[in-house]
Amino acid sequence: MLMNLNKRPPISLFLAIKMTKIPLILLIFFSASQIFASDLVEVFGISRCPDTSKFVKNQLVPFYEKFSSNFSKDFKLDFHAVPTGGSNVDGHYVNRCLHGKTECDLNKLQMCAKKHVSGDWMKIIGCIQGLKSYNKALECLPEAEEGKIVKTCAESDEGEYLLNDENSYRFNVAPLSSWLPWIQVNGKREPYAEHHLKDVVCSLESMKNEEMCQKN
Ligand SMILES: *[C@@H]1O[C@H](CO)[C@@H](O)[C@H](O)[C@H]1NC(C)=O
Repeated sequence: MLMNLNKRPPISLFLAIKMTKIPLILLIFFSASQIFASDLVEVFGISRCPDTSKFVKNQLVPFYEKFSSNFSKDFKLDFHAVPTGGSNVDGHYVNRCLHGKTECDLNKLQMCAKKHVSGDWMKIIGCIQGLKSYNKALECLPEAEEGKIVKTCAESDEGEYLLNDENSYRFNVAPLSSWLPWIQVNGKREPYAEHHLKDVVCSLESMKNEEMCQKN
């Protein structure tokens, strides 16, 4: 699904004041990843997009569920739910999303789960992905304390900030990401991964010698 590119940097509320700091942070990040030769596969998507849903449900989550315990410690797989922009409304930052408010609500729930659920956040993201209603999505959260923290996050400024930060991140790291799901390997687009995630992961330096990547 096609989505607008950000024409100018969104306001980053957590990294407030100076956007000029971001390139520096990224520079440090990228040079660190060079030194440790680690690999990062990251996915940008939106919760109500059929193409993102297909990828998340057929590739990303099953792959993660089956193999995350076999990942090399130098390999990381990440998911970013992104808005299209946002603005200040009555003193509060409010994100805008391609498919409207419900999509923003689901995106926030996904990013709050990533932040607050230590174990199985990818599974929760997969459960929320593609749903039509926020109440249905709440059923994806773990019971007890962790689930409550995620819900509170998604319904407060914390969730708006998190989603906005994902937008800033997208602008800086994936400025050409007009097609979603947009999959990057170490900062470069890899469209082949949309249908061949495991092949792409297993071609990486950090993963190719792992047992899960050996052909029998
Ligand atoms: C993946 O990890 C699990 C649990 O640690 C282990 O039992 C299994 O043999 C591993 N599989 C591969 C293909 O490495």
